[in-house]
Amino acid sequence: MFRTHNCGELRLSDAGKTVILSGWVQRVRDKGGMVWVDLRDRYGITQLVFEEGKTKDELLDAVKKLGREFVIQAKGEVLERYAKNDKLATGDIEIMTEELNVLNASKVPPFLIEDETDGGDDLRMKYRYLDLRRNPVRSALQLRHVMLQKTRQYLDSQSFLEVETPVLIKSTPEGARDFVVPSRMNPGEFYALPQSPQTFKQLLMVSGFDKYFQIVKCFRDEDLRADRQPEFTQIDCEMSFVEQDDILNTFEGLVKHLFKEVKGIDIKHVPRMDYADAMRLYGSDKPDIRFDMQFVELNEVTQGKGFNVFDSAELVVGINAKGAGEYTRKQLDALTDFVKRPQVGAKGLVYVKCNEDGTFKSSVDKFYSQEDLKEWAGKMNAESGDLLLVLSGDMDATRFAMNVLRLHMGDELGLRNKEEFKLLWVLNFPLLEWDEDTKRYHAMHHPFTSPQKSDIPLLDSDPGKVRANAYDMVINGVEVGGGSIRIHDRPTQQLMFRHLGFSEEEAKAQFGFLMEAFEYGAPPHGGIAFGFDRLCSLFGGSDSIRDYIAFPKNNSGRDVMIDSPSPISNEQLEELAIKLK
Ligand code: AMO
Repeated sequence: MFRTHNCGELRLSDAGKTVILSGWVQRVRDKGGMVWVDLRDRYGITQLVFEEGKTKDELLDAVKKLGREFVIQAKGEVLERYAKNDKLATGDIEIMTEELNVLNASKVPPFLIEDETDGGDDLRMKYRYLDLRRNPVRSALQLRHVMLQKTRQYLDSQSFLEVETPVLIKSTPEGARDFVVPSRMNPGEFYALPQSPQTFKQLLMVSGFDKYFQIVKCFRDEDLRADRQPEFTQIDCEMSFVEQDDILNTFEGLVKHLFKEVKGIDIKHVPRMDYADAMRLYGSDKPDIRFDMQFVELNEVTQGKGFNVFDSAELVVGINAKGAGEYTRKQLDALTDFVKRPQVGAKGLVYVKCNEDGTFKSSVDKFYSQEDLKEWAGKMNAESGDLLLVLSGDMDATRFAMNVLRLHMGDELGLRNKEEFKLLWVLNFPLLEWDEDTKRYHAMHHPFTSPQKSDIPLLDSDPGKVRANAYDMVINGVEVGGGSIRIHDRPTQQLMFRHLGFSEEEAKAQFGFLMEAFEYGAPPHGGIAFGFDRLCSLFGGSDSIRDYIAFPKNNSGRDVMIDSPSPISNEQLEELAIKLK
């Protein structure tokens, strides 16, 4: 028997018992006559003690040879400690060790296996299996485990069926590039890894499955960021005979259940916002509504006063950074530099300080009188001590830049508390999005999303104005999920493909199977998918989803531990009928 107990289990009430523990050596403290070993496993740490006079000499010698991360087995009696450690669950006891068995030695690990480690990112990724021994990393995966169980529990209780769909499929257009897999048995042909199980879940609705879910790996070959991995996990769901409200209510229920069960937080109300309002008030389709600082459009009060920058702008827009009126010249210069970075793209920043004495100090005093600035302040509900920040230019670019500035100010003013959660549904997304590169419309969500009935006539006259029956869930400014009510009849789906620039043949070749299925009694249906890694990282209070993935890829899409991707042999290439240039 390797162990009678784990390393986090023993308490004072166990004193007097003879126990066997197995685990890793966290630390050896050798004080000459006394040696202590901290023995660690995934459950905790238990102190082993060895004492001259009580412990056999050869055992004392052996324990002095132990190194960090050796795997050992120890047998001994549970004793009450003299000096208790209230930071450890097992801190009231120690094991007077009588037998010690080295199960495996260990090289000195390349970084400290402690909560605070000295290992940099790259090193920890290369030795991810060691990094996973550390408490913070392990507890992130434990959180993920709990989230998985609670998700299944809720969806099962709502009669959802978990169905697995294939991984070797044909391309589904979700907007990213596909990862492809060559088929040996079909030379020159490729499978695609699913960007999502979108078409399969819709086919399951045609099959009458009614309520489907799957916690499923998805693959997207896109540029990576802190919240994007090339393979990630979705809670993918679909329902039949539903309208948008049914879906919003059901999945609001799921998220509320997770908050309640995992974090003990009651989410009362999930507000709903139009996409158009989100863009107008926050310059983003995923606004962080933990703080206000909404955009105020200022064209009316700023134009026509001789300031050419504003006069020639499509949009002049401001935010009120409450209480930031004390910002110094240096801080304001830093903000200006911030918005002028290429990633933000603004040409400059105008500020107005609302002084305590009711006067204003602005960077455009030359063009605007105190009366003018008072009018701005009035529009922006500003009070003494506030700082108004104004950007101008083309509509989309200015909204984009102001969104980045708003979030930055939220950070600077401490308004983005990680332990506060603000949920939001964003509704009525546009159906189509113009793509400058290809000079045509793309589906903003995916081509299976239904247009809003009242907007269908606009498909020909003004396609960019057509709204979709599509929705996203946003938490603290992170898009955690998105979905739509689908098209469920062949003619509408064909119409959609036509508007997306597919010829009839192309549409048939790629999605003939789905359109055919729609001719065999497809029920009205819709669904949603949540980014499970993103949900976990929000619940865990981290900005990076990598912390919640056991073996993540780095920002170049590499797994540096197994060194993948990697070349394959010529024989393999030949077998797959692939010729490299
Ligand atoms: P969508 O493409 O919006 O919808 O994806 C759903 C959610 O998945 C998460 N997500 C990602 N997470 C980590 N890394 C990535 N690379 C990544 N890409 C997306 C996001 C996103 O909200 N089939 C549709 C869903 C549907 O219509 O039902 C779909 O996949 O949190």
